[in-house]
Amino acid sequence: MSTLDDVRALEAQHIVPTYKRQPVVFVRGAGMYLYDADGKAYLDMLSGIGVAARGHADPALTAAIAEQAATLMQVSNLYYHPLQGEAAKRLSALSGLPRTFFCNSGAEAMEACLKFARRYWYTAGERSRTEFVALEHGFSGRTMGALSVTHNAHYREPFNPLIPGVTFVNPADPAALVAAVSNRTAAIIAEPIQGEGGVRPLSREFAAAINEACAKTGTLYIADEIQSGLGRTGYPFYFQALGLSPDLVSVGKALGGGVPIGATLVSERVSAALSPGDHGTTYGGNLLACRAAIVVLEQLTNGSLLEHVRRVGAHFESRLKGLAAKHPVITEIRGAGLMRGLQLSVDALPFIDLARERGLLVNRTDETVLRMLPALTIDTTDLDKAVEILDTVFTDVKAA
Ligand SMILES: Cc1ncc(COP(=O)(O)O)c(C=O)c1O
Repeated sequence: MSTLDDVRALEAQHIVPTYKRQPVVFVRGAGMYLYDADGKAYLDMLSGIGVAARGHADPALTAAIAEQAATLMQVSNLYYHPLQGEAAKRLSALSGLPRTFFCNSGAEAMEACLKFARRYWYTAGERSRTEFVALEHGFSGRTMGALSVTHNAHYREPFNPLIPGVTFVNPADPAALVAAVSNRTAAIIAEPIQGEGGVRPLSREFAAAINEACAKTGTLYIADEIQSGLGRTGYPFYFQALGLSPDLVSVGKALGGGVPIGATLVSERVSAALSPGDHGTTYGGNLLACRAAIVVLEQLTNGSLLEHVRRVGAHFESRLKGLAAKHPVITEIRGAGLMRGLQLSVDALPFIDLARERGLLVNRTDETVLRMLPALTIDTTDLDKAVEILDTVFTDVKAA
């Protein structure tokens, strides 16, 4: 029996079947590479779905976590510790939003956004202002609140009824957004670049419609930056590139570089509506997670990584354009920086599978989109290598 057979058999008995895994067992990572149980190396263009922003087993992150684990990991939110305020200060410097609530995942960061938006209007005395406007193709997570503002019916339907009063608008139709937002809308939810929905950046026209709807009705805007934020696009957050001014921003994935942590960043006026007991979590913002976040944020706040992402992201885009010129199955290249999607005219799955067999990890999203979210520290040599492997994959799947 191979390690894969053993692991598969164990999981088949003991793990609930909510994931469809690809046939590989990873046991080690270093920089841009993952290694399977047989020692085969894979160039990782996904970084754990945009999480390992500094690559795998980053020495500075590893050393900080090890030291923190040996010192103190958890005291709960009953007490102060020195690292939450420090991590929040760095998030504030990057986002312009002064205050942070820490939690443990992206979905939890969205739950906090939804609760805080409702609480804001409750405090303001507008108690009928409870509804949300979200986007077609939008994805905000799988807990009940986050799922309620996630568009895909396949994820939603088995769990109905979800929270009521959510309207979905087509992001290609800015006028529809302005029409959908009323003085019953607590908040608009939109990812500045839709990730799971197919790597689809909002247009400038749609961003302007969000600003218009907020100005007209006072509605809050929640930017879901869980995938597009923290330097992924070469900007600290992509709402900044689009000229948006959110009152709430959800953050997750890359924040801990692999240590689970999420955050909801809020404006002063939203924070002022909150009181002790309105929300909370046992682990949220513990010392281990905050120490990891401080290491990740340090590299972003000193600016050097953002410049790197912009530079290598532009190089990657031009290489992908060359690939698309050669392979007509690629009909569009979308995204920014190191968040890239290749729109294919067919199902992306056979390309993903062959790429993996050839030592390259990419994934499929929205059925026909091949998505890449490499570590932010990747260099042009590895990006070129990824494009070269993809070139052989597009040649051979087409020929098959
Ligand atoms: C934009 C966006 N929001 C929310 C989530 C949910 O985050 P998590 O899986 O950490 O709960 C994701 C995860 O893919 C995401 O991409």
